[in-house]
Amino acid sequence: MSETTPIEFINLTKDFGKSHAVHALSAKVARGRITGFFGPNGAGKSTSLRCLLGLAKATSGQALIDGKAYAELVDPLHKVGAILDSRGFNGSLSGKKNLLIVAAAGGIADSRVDEVLDLVELTGAANHKTKGYSLGMMQRLSLAGALLGDPEILVLDEPGNGLDPIGIAWLRSFLRKLADEGRTILVSSHQLAEMQHTVDDVLVMNQGELVAAGKIADVQGGLSLEEAFLKIVMAKK
Ligand SMILES: Nc1ncnc2c1ncn2[C@@H]1O[C@H](COP(=O)(O)OP(=O)(O)O)[C@@H](O)[C@H]1O
Ligand SMILES: [Mg+2]
Repeated sequence: MSETTPIEFINLTKDFGKSHAVHALSAKVARGRITGFFGPNGAGKSTSLRCLLGLAKATSGQALIDGKAYAELVDPLHKVGAILDSRGFNGSLSGKKNLLIVAAAGGIADSRVDEVLDLVELTGAANHKTKGYSLGMMQRLSLAGALLGDPEILVLDEPGNGLDPIGIAWLRSFLRKLADEGRTILVSSHQLAEMQHTVDDVLVMNQGELVAAGKIADVQGGLSLEEAFLKIVMAKK
């Protein structure tokens, strides 16, 4: 594996008109660890991740994967798999058929589709139309899609959104297993309590700015992540 930084934001700023969705974000994500990208709704998480994945153009600054812009990656699906908060599956097709389309577009063998469906425990529902899937099943299908290229890096925007406690527990252990395989994971959540036990490191955003970064225990300082967040935000007022 290369020694570059898997994910780095360098002074990233994204404006929509006069408002800063993201303002001067600088942060590094460490290889082989799970980094939580936390903050309330509107904090700028999705916008930052969209810039990282080449889906939005930064106003200034950079968001890099292994030192490169997404568009410059040689084999992007093998380098990075992603879930963004908008899902693009066709409800009248099965989960398997949806993934076969994504695989074909990315030059990935059909056999890999069965593998990733198995990894996320959707084999039994693989041939059912996705319009009948529960929210948890849709989240797992998105994860399967992100894993198609067997990527080194995963960028997951709110993968726990709407999951019940069993779904969250499943997601936690699944992400840990992926990190134990040496993958780098950046996972966003607006529910600070939901993912605080899952991550090694955190980047905490508020109103477009990074307000805390580091190992989760250091950022928490003995508090719950929510309490620590409120303390940090109040101190900045
Ligand atoms: N396409 C857009 N046009 C205008 N404003 C946007 C757009 N996307 C996001 N924003 C604004 O940017 C800010 C950050 O949004 P977002 O990145 O979605 O935050 P988060 O993912 O942390 O909830 C919000 O104020 C949001 O309204
Ligand atoms: Mg978001």
